[in-house]
Amino acid sequence: MDDLYAEIMGSRAGYGALRSSLGAVTERLAGDLPEADLLRRYEPRSEWFSREESRRGVHGIPHEARVLVLSEVLSRLEVLAGASLDQDVVRWSAVTHDLRRHGEGFDYQHGERSAAWVMDTDFGTNGTDKDAIAYCNFWHVPQDCEAPSIPPELRVLKDADAVDRFRAQEIILNAEGFAKPPTMDDVFDHNFLRTNYAHLLVPVGRFFYRLSAYIKAKSRSNGELSGFDSVLEAGRVLGLVR
Ligand SMILES: [Fe+2]
Ligand SMILES: [Fe+2]
Repeated sequence: MDDLYAEIMGSRAGYGALRSSLGAVTERLAGDLPEADLLRRYEPRSEWFSREESRRGVHGIPHEARVLVLSEVLSRLEVLAGASLDQDVVRWSAVTHDLRRHGEGFDYQHGERSAAWVMDTDFGTNGTDKDAIAYCNFWHVPQDCEAPSIPPELRVLKDADAVDRFRAQEIILNAEGFAKPPTMDDVFDHNFLRTNYAHLLVPVGRFFYRLSAYIKAKSRSNGELSGFDSVLEAGRVLGLVR
């Protein structure tokens, strides 16, 4: 994977950190990796998004899919460490938390709208606790101190969302003509992470984002993959998805 990394990232800088992160995650999971077919059951549909631009934007289907993969890995690590959490709630909130955005910038109400959508819509949750999904969606936007409580499902969702934040920051900083490619330290404060294992995933976030975009672009010449499937394929290349 090192040649692919260098091609996508422009140099091998950071490759060692990525390898050691992925090694530590997969060693702890000891083969308990999510299967692509399991994750595919949670694929968000285009019509769930409030706007066409939202579906295609920074917070669109590929973002929801990466948060699904990252939160699934985090959930499994947390459960292995003894935490009790409803993985189905995490999965459904991962793919619905940003559905109802009205724009790509600061939109404080979008979690509340996504929570209301969850309660008002039959989207095939098959008995999963919709109140718990809606709670995660509602409170994923405000600061932790504002929420009545931070259940483990919300901790995992917020950390997975944060690990994928690099893609948005990179797009924004590049658009603003940032003098040099931003590093994780430019855009990310580790102190805000809530779970111990999220620190392991931080070096994965940036490459995961770029790799899924790369795989989608490459697939255009041969039956283009969907944004969702490009992310699952990137997860497979990284060794996070079976
Ligand atoms: Fe959000
Ligand atoms: Fe998000």
